[in-house]
Parts: sequence; structure tokens; C-alpha cells
Amino acid sequence: MDFASLARAYGTPLYVYDFDRLRENFLNFRQAFSGRKSLICYALKANSNLSILKFLASLGAGADCVSIGEVRRALLAGIERYKIIFSGVGKRDDEIEEALREGVLFINLESFQEMQRVEKIAQDLKLIARVSVRVNPNIDAKTHPYISTGLHENKFGVEIEQAKEMYLYIKNSPFLEAVGIHFHIGSQICDLDPILQASQKIAQLYRSLLALGLEIKFFDVGGGIGISYQEEQIISLYDYAQGILASLGENEPTIICEAGRRIVGDCGVFLTQVIGEKKNGDKRFVIVDGAMNDLMRPSLYGAIHQPTLLKDQQGEQSRCDIVGPICESGDYLAKDILLPSTQAGDIIAFANAGAYGMSMSSQYNSRLRAAEVAISQGEVFLVKSREKFEDLIQKEVECLK
Ligand code: LLP
Repeated sequence: MDFASLARAYGTPLYVYDFDRLRENFLNFRQAFSGRKSLICYALKANSNLSILKFLASLGAGADCVSIGEVRRALLAGIERYKIIFSGVGKRDDEIEEALREGVLFINLESFQEMQRVEKIAQDLKLIARVSVRVNPNIDAKTHPYISTGLHENKFGVEIEQAKEMYLYIKNSPFLEAVGIHFHIGSQICDLDPILQASQKIAQLYRSLLALGLEIKFFDVGGGIGISYQEEQIISLYDYAQGILASLGENEPTIICEAGRRIVGDCGVFLTQVIGEKKNGDKRFVIVDGAMNDLMRPSLYGAIHQPTLLKDQQGEQSRCDIVGPICESGDYLAKDILLPSTQAGDIIAFANAGAYGMSMSSQYNSRLRAAEVAISQGEVFLVKSREKFEDLIQKEVECLK
């Protein structure tokens, strides 16, 4: 696909998604677990564009949601309620109530206190809440500390002993039903070992709960499988699935996989336009019209989204930073990379921007959020129009008349 023409047709900054790749990535996950009862609950936080959700829904995807907004999106996109799970470390009562009323598959509990709140809400609604406990296995996922979640020092889940107490409480509650068990140790994981260690640990707990008479049907292994941003060796989905299945032995729960990045990450590119160049001493900067508000990952995690200058005639290269217009030194999209000299209007594409790109964008500096287009079987569709100035100020009210 000619990204430069797309950038001219739709303007920049622009996200472009390849839906053919999206289909392939999703089906690869399904294939990995084929032959066993499994459900791929796409993690909306990676990219919650409704067209992406509708497309995945048409392929049979479920949804992992961390706010009622995400639950509403999933339902709107046609994902069946019995394929939606509601997770998240701080769910408000009104969110829990709505999720229960909607009849989602289950709620992933994050603490003893939260369990009691869910119980109370279920009692008030006169229904039985299906729940699962997120267990923190205290295993290092060996990923960026900001996206590591499986250690006791992280805020997520509960310790194994506490999980046992919760399951016993649930067993005796007329308003709660334990249907699942859950863990998720981090994101952008490229080493299978920690995931399998966690799976073995949680499978052991799962077996002891079965022995106590709890009928746990879902073994939710979270998400976290990484993609190749800088030629990292990535995990084979076959090995991943086989490893998880091996940890379960003879038991046959339905496996739930909350994959986000590995489904959508390499489907997206982020296109920006060069505004100009400048030098401060020896330091060269290429200034583009996309910024940390559009693609936050480089500023926040030092992440690399390989840039490509889309231009036929390329001269000699020199080192530079590609930076945005935002008033922060941390606003950059690429650092210390080799690039030929650029002219205003040239297009630079940043790779692997499908996950946690648009979904983490903001309007900082009163910037309008980017447009998004999808390419499916050679056809191009606008899937989100560019924000307008009116969108920025729409909710603001004047207090002084
Ligand atoms: N399930 C749970 C409970 C999660 O917390 C996450 C991600 C996922 C599933 C999906 O993980 P994935 O398969 O996409 O790795 N903003 C960061 C990533 C944060 C991930 C948060 N949780 C980034 O840009 O790298």
C-alpha cells in the first residue's frame, strides 16, 4: 500500500491499519488453541476502534474490558455478552452494577474488598455474579517495569493464599459463583518461561480448588505476548499454547486468552508529515506533525517504532531525533537514528503502531487526535475521522458570563 498517497488523501497525523493482517493474527491465536475449548478475549485497551472490534467480533472474538466504557464498546461492536469479561484494578460500583445487569461472562476480582462489593451489588440486583479471581503469582515477566504486573510489588491481583480464602468465601456466598481463575504477569513479553511458570503455579491452585468442589470452568491466562519492535525473538504461539495446555494436564477448562498487542500491534503504522528541520549545534532535529500525544510509547517507555522516510530520492544519511511540536523535551518519536535530509511535506511512517498508539492518545497542547483508516482486501476505509477544534472544547462550560 502506498502510505504516502494515503497520508496525502487523509491528512496527517494518520493511523493506518491492515485488516488482512488483523484477521491472520487473530486466527493464529485461535489456531494455536484449536482442539481445546478456548476463547480469545481481545484486550480492548490495545486498540478499541469500533471497526476493529466489529471485525474481530465477526471472527468470533470475545473481549477483555477494563472499564464500563470498554464493555459498552464491545457490546456496541456486536461481541456477545457471554464472551465479555470485565477486569481492572479499580472498578466503581456503578461499573460493576452495569456489567452485572448486562450479564457479562464474568468479573475478574482484584481484591477481597472488591469481592464483597460485587457480592453486595449482586444481592441488591437479586442475581448471582459470576466471578474469577486474579491471582498474582509473584513472577517476574522480564519486561519494561511499567508494564510488569505479576510481582507482589505491583498493584495487581491477590496472593495465592488470599485467593484461596476468596474462593472459599465465594463458595459459601449465595450471590457469587466462582467460574474462573485468572493471571496476567505483564505485557510485551518475549520470554515464554515466566508465563509458563505462572501458568503452572496457577494450575496447581486451580486443581486444589477443584478438589474443594469448586466448579471452575475458565482458566484465564491473560495477555502479554510480545511482538518484534527491534527484531526481538518473539514467542511462538504454538509453544505458548502447548505450554499452557501442558500445565493443565488432564484437566480441561476453557482457556481464555486476553491478547491485545499480538493481535493488533503489527497491523498499524503511524504516518506523520515533516514540518521542517533544525540544528542546535551538532544536534539535528526533524520536526514532524505527529507527537507524543498521538504515539506516547517512545516518550513513556523509550519504545522503538522503526521510522521510514517514504521518499524515492534519498541522499546521505545523518543522525537525528524525530520530534513533535509539543512543548516537552520528552516529546520525540525516534531518537538518534540515521535519516537522509528531509523536506517539508515528506512523510515518515512509524512501524508497529497498531497497539497502544491511538488508544493512549490525548489532546495535550490542544492537539486534535489523528484520523484512522483501515485497509481491507485492497480497499481503504476511514474508521475514525480527524478531530475538529469544536470536539476539543465541546464539553467546556463558561463560568463567567
Ligand atoms: N489482560 C490484562 C489484565 C492486561 O492488563 C493487559 C494489558 C492485557 C490483558 C493485554 O496485554 P497485551 O496482550 O496487549 O500485552 N501501554 C503499554 C501496555 C500496557 C498493557 C496493560 N495491560 C504499552 O504501550 O506497551
